[in-house]
Amino acid sequence: MKKIITSANSNIALIKYWGKRDENLFLPTKSSLSVCLSNLSTTTSIEFSDSDQLIINGKISNLDKSNKILKFLNFFREKYNVKKSFKIITKNNFPTAAGLASSASGFAALAKALNNICALSLSEKDLSILARMGSGSASRSIFKGFVLWNKGIKVDGQDSYAEQIFDNNYWPDLRILVAVVDSSKKKISSRDAMKISVETSPLYKDWIDRSEKNIFKMIEAIKNKDFQMVGTIAENDCLEMHETIRTSEPKMEYFQDITLKIINCVRDLRRNNISCYFTIDAGPNVKILCLNNDCEKIKNSIKNIDGVQDIIVCSVG
Ligand code: PMV
Repeated sequence: MKKIITSANSNIALIKYWGKRDENLFLPTKSSLSVCLSNLSTTTSIEFSDSDQLIINGKISNLDKSNKILKFLNFFREKYNVKKSFKIITKNNFPTAAGLASSASGFAALAKALNNICALSLSEKDLSILARMGSGSASRSIFKGFVLWNKGIKVDGQDSYAEQIFDNNYWPDLRILVAVVDSSKKKISSRDAMKISVETSPLYKDWIDRSEKNIFKMIEAIKNKDFQMVGTIAENDCLEMHETIRTSEPKMEYFQDITLKIINCVRDLRRNNISCYFTIDAGPNVKILCLNNDCEKIKNSIKNIDGVQDIIVCSVG
């Protein structure tokens, strides 16, 4: 029986995606820009089967109607006129209990796996559009290096896909430290939370206008390898996203005490002339941007904070 194995890496947005202009097609309100994380990946194996089966990190998943992966498979079958069922085994190489987002790498690896097993020969652009239908950020995980997801303007979403803007060898000195924290609180899914933000946050519109403009500054800063500029823009964009989340109705909060402790540590390090910046997605984990020379010092400082379980050092994947 034919079996295909694919993998995709996770990514962290330096300019965030937060909000859709079309819920069904996963079309974003604004463009976003990310960097691929070298050491966080999902590996997926796929084969044809009599019925759909899904095993995630060794656990059988219940494929009921609301299951995101089943919805994605059904979308795929309809769009590409595929009349097959699949057995899918997927595994993350990072601790799942830690609440690190796996949907980006997961749906990107699955899109590649479906493309291969059904011998569709989709272009990277079409793969990105397909992965987008599982999770917006997955559209960026099709690519390595620095990746721009253009929001597009068409109603059918055919111009809303990601592309690589600098490859994974462009900035070998850049490091992203993923501080894995103890996350006991149940988080609101990003899908639900971003919908609430778009509809209710008084800060939303201002932020997305500014954020969209910052994409050009960010591209210029990466081009010039201007680390302070990259870090400053990324940190501000992240803080503004979290402010729109906080000012939504109902009000929401992803930071935990430990998140604030890490933020303060990053700021203390900066006051001591160690250049580092943070960015945070829809959860309590913190990603710290730095350059290789400072990596060990920063890692040791963060590691000592009570509640930090692990630090995964990534370069541009
Ligand atoms: O792709 P989703 O639905 O998991 O949303 C991702 C949202 C953020 O991680 C907060 C930002 C981003 O651009 O990745």
